[in-house]
Amino acid sequence: MMAISKKMMNAQALAKNEHLFRCPICSLTMEFKEDARLVCEKNHSFDLSRQGYVNLAPQAHVTKYDKRLFEARKTIITNGFFDPLLERLTALVDERVQNKQAPTIIDAGSGEGSHLASIVSKLSDATTGVGIDLAKEGVLAAAKDYPGHIWLVADLANCPFQDDTFDVMLNILSPANYAEFTRVLKPAGMFVKVVPENDYLKQLRTIFYDDAERQNEGNPVERTGEYFNTVKTERITYDFPLNQMLLEKLIQMTPLSWGASEDKIKSALQSEIPAVTVDYTIIIGTNE
Ligand SMILES: C[S@@+](CC[C@H](N)C(=O)[O-])C[C@H]1O[C@@H](n2cnc3c(N)ncnc32)[C@H](O)[C@@H]1O
Ligand SMILES: [Zn+2]
Repeated sequence: MMAISKKMMNAQALAKNEHLFRCPICSLTMEFKEDARLVCEKNHSFDLSRQGYVNLAPQAHVTKYDKRLFEARKTIITNGFFDPLLERLTALVDERVQNKQAPTIIDAGSGEGSHLASIVSKLSDATTGVGIDLAKEGVLAAAKDYPGHIWLVADLANCPFQDDTFDVMLNILSPANYAEFTRVLKPAGMFVKVVPENDYLKQLRTIFYDDAERQNEGNPVERTGEYFNTVKTERITYDFPLNQMLLEKLIQMTPLSWGASEDKIKSALQSEIPAVTVDYTIIIGTNE
């Protein structure tokens, strides 16, 4: 039997889940057509790309997250940078969805897709994973590397989904839009946000500026509390050992180095830092 193409696998995931979508332009319901398009009742049409993702962002966005950054991020990830975090996230999600027939999980700001793919791979085959990100290069890499999930270029401030769609919403080191997130989450759904803590990459932050790309969203624990009845937090801290190659990739992948002078980048590259501290808070919002 001929193996089905990656694009075909992604098309099947879309066809099976067409009812989850709503048009990002007019908010009407959508259908996945045989010629591989998501089309709404008003005929706004979005093609499945050759690589297997759909661009549902009505306007083109240029982001600083480019191909080089996502490739660097992938090298860091495959070397285990996120492993302890992912293990904990997987356990939290699994506990939540294990009794559900066909759970739906979205990663808002899914980047190059590996977090969602890793978590969903540990859950039942009936799980639907949806990754959205505004950075096309990330979504393209995700669609190629992790077929069988739904990969969308979409703005998390205009989520192209029906109300009450997802059992779990992940939001890892990415901006949030609480009004949209709570709209598309089921009332009994679980929101899981990961934010960097004080010691996150402190060895690099002493070289670069401290506050590059701090997201101006107020205190995320308080914000989560405004939208969910129950908020729990867990801190997770570990060391990630570096060699010269990983140090270079880490500098490329992190927004910390954006706008930094050549001198700063050079001194970071020559710093021979043996390990960096990874320090996150996991914020879990539910309506229990
Ligand atoms: C630091 S990266 C984290 C990516 C991934 N979650 C990870 O941990 O590797 C932040 C991501 O948020 C995405 N992002 C920023 N604003 C967005 C928006 N309005 N809608 C969708 N994605 C957005 C960026 O494109 C980027 O991929
Ligand atoms: Zn429409």
